[in-house]
Amino acid sequence: MASVVTGVAGFIGSSLAEKLLDRGEQVIGIDCFIDYYPRALKEKNLQGLLANARFRFIEQNLVDVDLASLLADVDIVYHQAAQAGVRASWGKDFSIYTRNNILATQRLLEALKGTKIKLINASSSSVYGEVVTLPMRETDIPQPVSPYGVTKLAAEHLCCLYARNYGVEAVSLRYFTVYGPRQRPDMAFHRFIKAMLRGEEIEIYGNGEQTRDFTYIQDAVSANLLAGERGQRGEVYNIGGGARITVNNVLELLERLTEKPAKVRHREPQKGDVTHTYADTQKAQDDLLFKPTTTLEDGLKRQIEWMQKEILPFQF
Ligand code: UGA
Repeated sequence: MASVVTGVAGFIGSSLAEKLLDRGEQVIGIDCFIDYYPRALKEKNLQGLLANARFRFIEQNLVDVDLASLLADVDIVYHQAAQAGVRASWGKDFSIYTRNNILATQRLLEALKGTKIKLINASSSSVYGEVVTLPMRETDIPQPVSPYGVTKLAAEHLCCLYARNYGVEAVSLRYFTVYGPRQRPDMAFHRFIKAMLRGEEIEIYGNGEQTRDFTYIQDAVSANLLAGERGQRGEVYNIGGGARITVNNVLELLERLTEKPAKVRHREPQKGDVTHTYADTQKAQDDLLFKPTTTLEDGLKRQIEWMQKEILPFQF
C-alpha cells in the first residue's frame, strides 16, 4: 500500500504516518509548515519519519502542489492538513482558513475524480455547534459556532458532493478534541500541563464547567486505518474517546498525576467555543469497528511523560 498523508508534520499527521510505516507501507508526506505554531516542533515530529527509507517528504502547500504527480501510484490519501484553531479563526486570518481548509480540500477532490484512490478527510466535532441533545449524532443538523467549524463543515460537504456526483471514495472523520504526545501547543492539555510543571498560571475560559469528549491520539490514528479499510463512500463518522469530562475535572486529574497544584485564573468564555461535546460513536462502531481503547488517565500520563521529555527542557 502507498499512502499520502497531508499535514504530515502536524500532531495527528505525523502520528498516523508513523503507524503506516510500522505496518510496512510506503508513505508520501506533505506539509507546508503553516505558521501557526513553531516550525521546530513540527520538525521534531518529522524526525523519525525522515529516517525511514519508505517515507518521502514534500514541503509544499496543497493549494500549489502538482496533485497529478503527488497522487500517481497512491491507494489512499489521509487528509490531515488544515489551518487548526477554533478560537483563532475570527478576523483577518479567516482567508487562511478558507484557503487551507476549503480550497485545498476541493483541489484534492477534483484531482481524485475518476480515480479509485480513497480519501480520509479529517473533520471536527466543531461542525456541530451547540446541539440540544447529547450525545452528538451524525444525523444532527450541523450548526457550527466558529468560523473554523464553518470551514471544516464546508470541506466535509464537498467530500459528500464529490462522492455522490463523481464517485470519489471520500470519508470524513469528525475528531473530538484529540490529545496525547505531540498535541499542538495551543490546545488545552498542552497548555495546562506546561503551566503546571513550570509553576505558571493556567487560564480557564469561563467557569470550567464546559465538557469535552477527549480522544487519545492512537485511537484517532486507529480510526483512520479502519476508515481506510471499511469507511463507506460519502459518509461521516464521529470519532470520540468516550470520556466526557469537565475542564475543571481534568485539572483535578492533572493535579493528581503531576503532583503539582493548578494555579487557575478565569477568563471570559471564548467566542466560537462550544459548551459541550460528546460523541455518539455507534456508527463508527458499526461500519468501521472503531472502539477507543485508551482511558483519559492513561492518555494523560503519556502526554505528561512526553512533555517532560520533549517540551519542558526546550524553549517551545
Ligand atoms: C480542539 C482542536 O483544537 C480543534 O482543532 C478540533 O477541531 C476540535 O478540538 C474538535 O474536537 O473539533 P477544542 O475542543 O477547543 O478544539 O480543544 P482544546 O483547545 O483542547 O480546548 C478544550 C477546552 O478547554 C475548551 O473548552 C477550551 O475553552 C478550554 N481551554 C482551552 C481553556 O479553558 N483554556 C485554555 O488555555 C485552552
